[in-house]
Amino acid sequence: MDVIASTVFGLDVDSQSKTDHPFVEHASTLLGASKKPKGFFAICKQICLIIMLFTFPTSLRVVLANFFGLSFTDQESMKYFNNVIDRLVKERKQNPDSENSKDFVSQCSKKVVDLSQVPKEKVFMSSSGFQWTTEGLTREDFVANSTIFFGAGYETTATALQFFFYNMAVHPNIQQKLYDHLCEELGEDDFSYEQLQRLDYLEWCICESMRMFPPVVRIERLANADTVVNGITIPKGMGVQGLVYVIHHDPDYWPQPEKFDPERFSPENKTEIQQYAWLPFGAGGRSCIANRLAMLEMKIAVAKAMLSLQFERVAATKDPAEIKQKPAAAFFLPKDPILISAVSRSSF
Ligand code: HEM
Repeated sequence: MDVIASTVFGLDVDSQSKTDHPFVEHASTLLGASKKPKGFFAICKQICLIIMLFTFPTSLRVVLANFFGLSFTDQESMKYFNNVIDRLVKERKQNPDSENSKDFVSQCSKKVVDLSQVPKEKVFMSSSGFQWTTEGLTREDFVANSTIFFGAGYETTATALQFFFYNMAVHPNIQQKLYDHLCEELGEDDFSYEQLQRLDYLEWCICESMRMFPPVVRIERLANADTVVNGITIPKGMGVQGLVYVIHHDPDYWPQPEKFDPERFSPENKTEIQQYAWLPFGAGGRSCIANRLAMLEMKIAVAKAMLSLQFERVAATKDPAEIKQKPAAAFFLPKDPILISAVSRSSF
């Protein structure tokens, strides 16, 4: 949550210690975390709906929000983020060279145009009825692109981390090897970006964990020309899905695919990995915009957690983990909550 707040909105919210910060409360409301738990797909549907609603005029927004059954608190949260975005855009415009101007909102706010000031021949209508222009971003483009980061960046990283710690708990030898590696490279003090770059074994473990449990199970593309693949014709305009989970568990690409083996990603073995066989962040020009940020976030979270905690299986830990796979679902979830224990290393 803190990473999204600072990289996207330029806000320092410290969600771990200030759980009553309005940003945390409203983001939790939109993600469904403040109510009874929701499935990942339901959360993403809610975020898409909220993005749509953010971009309608206020009067229509209230009618639509009521129609779709968004609660009063959801609407309050939408209002909060709308106000935050308006305030930040105003602040950044007044003070474009400030220290805070590296975040996504600041970068985009420089490109926002007032459609009423754009020549009519440069304003177009999308098939879904939204106006857009080649002259810059509309306010709607801007709000939608800022808020999508909650859906794309928050749960994906959280899902990757929960399966990572699960893998550590059920593979104690690998956990010990990683712990020794972290102690050797980092020591006990805080660590630097350069030190994190040297943590090869940590990277292999994260890559292998995302191979076994990719947070996004499929990616999608539209064919922009008639194409023949393995004798099958894909006509122009047809939607095609790449089944990431299936590819990651295909023995043709990954010998013993159900074995958790970080060594697959060592420099000696990595050359055996076929191009496009490892796809947790997708591939090509529309791959994850933030894969480096996500890797960095996960390395920091894992290194901090593992230096002070040891993860262990408990009686209720399922091994192998049972996963929930619905044909249309894009996101990967455990069938039941993952249960492991975290024991403080200071108690040893
Ligand atoms: C472990 C964490 C993450 C995973 C596994 C992940 C995975 C993905 C995948 C599979 C895609 C679709 C790629 C494709 O179709 O080829 C995607 C797109 C995207 N991701 Fe991530 N992601 C993660 C973290 C993040 C974070 C932290 C952010 C932002 C702060 C983010 C922002 C985005 C955006 C904006 C897109 C759409 C890119 C586009 O359409 O051009 N992701 N991500």
